[in-house]
Amino acid sequence: MFAAGLVRDKKGIQSFDIPKPQITKPTEVLVKVKKVGLDGTDFTLVSEDLKDLAEGRDNIVLGHELAGVVEEVGTGVTTLKRGDVVTMTVRRGCGQCHPCMHNQSDMCMTGLFTERGIHKLDGFLTEYVVDEEQYIVKVPDTLANYAVLLEPISIVEKAVEQIKIIQSRLPWACGHPDHSFLEENWGRCKSAIVIGAGPLGLLATAQLRIAGVNTTTIDIVPEDHVKARLVKQFGATYMDGSLKQPEDVVARTCQSGNASIIFEASGASEMAINLIPCLLRSSIYVMTGIPRGKSRANFDADLLLRTITRYNIVIVGSVNSNRSHFEKAITSLERIERSFHGLLNQLFTHTFKLEDYEKAFSLQDPNRMKVMVEV
Ligand code: BGC
Ligand code: ZN
Repeated sequence: MFAAGLVRDKKGIQSFDIPKPQITKPTEVLVKVKKVGLDGTDFTLVSEDLKDLAEGRDNIVLGHELAGVVEEVGTGVTTLKRGDVVTMTVRRGCGQCHPCMHNQSDMCMTGLFTERGIHKLDGFLTEYVVDEEQYIVKVPDTLANYAVLLEPISIVEKAVEQIKIIQSRLPWACGHPDHSFLEENWGRCKSAIVIGAGPLGLLATAQLRIAGVNTTTIDIVPEDHVKARLVKQFGATYMDGSLKQPEDVVARTCQSGNASIIFEASGASEMAINLIPCLLRSSIYVMTGIPRGKSRANFDADLLLRTITRYNIVIVGSVNSNRSHFEKAITSLERIERSFHGLLNQLFTHTFKLEDYEKAFSLQDPNRMKVMVEV
């Protein structure tokens, strides 16, 4: 089978041959890959040459955002059948810690987890994949075109869940009856800053807007860029952080009204750190971007620690997602489609055939958002 990924002792994206996977257990499912979405992690794994190969393997297939169709199911599979449109979770638990033993491998305590297309396990940039039924999520036919977005939405979903869990410490944040974070429009008295208007930042913007949060999203593209237009179409305010020193962006952002939530989705660490003083009292900062370089960020550490302490601020990191977040992502995707019909299509800016994997990974286009690979 044709596959694209990383190869030991070679740099850059490569193609190679792997055997077609077979169902070997009754609980397994064979999925035909249809589309794979690429994200920042995929591009960074290639550009930074970050390989985490399985023992005894000289290569790893990349790609962790899947849209596929069930081809065959094992005799013990009960929830899926041939022809179902599906996507798949990314992480497989370590099998040793309690979170992993209880379907919460996104919170693994040992670090011994694996991830499809990232850590030790083959990803989806190939023709067929096999996995256990428990990791495969059925996608309603109406959302089939957006199936690859369920993984990034699940990342947003987990981050929002963290916000809700942690901020339930504050049931009286404001006066309206949904202040407790349990209702669908929990965000009506909240304001957020989203850092980054890439696919993740845009999906976060859409999610927050649906919950009623007054949202400002920051990126470094001009006002007429498709990212900025989408931010506005989601009912949020766009702020162009380019051509400005980080201090100016911080000053302008803080001036435009402090935030009860900051959602970091860019990995632009200096900006991310310096926005901490824009937070309101008793607020929350959730970080999802993963900076991979080395930065000597300039910041006033006293100001940051003073603000965090005196304002009861929580800063929380959020990585990966488990099946429950994929299930919630389906509901959210339905709501996003209902509220902003067709807008998500604009996220898909480039599509390549699997054979053209090199083009997909070398694409330099300022309009790039979600790059899709079709199999
Ligand atoms: C994926 C996560 C994964 C993380 C770190 C992200 O791109 O969406 O599922 O845990 O990379 O490997
Ligand atoms: Zn674990």
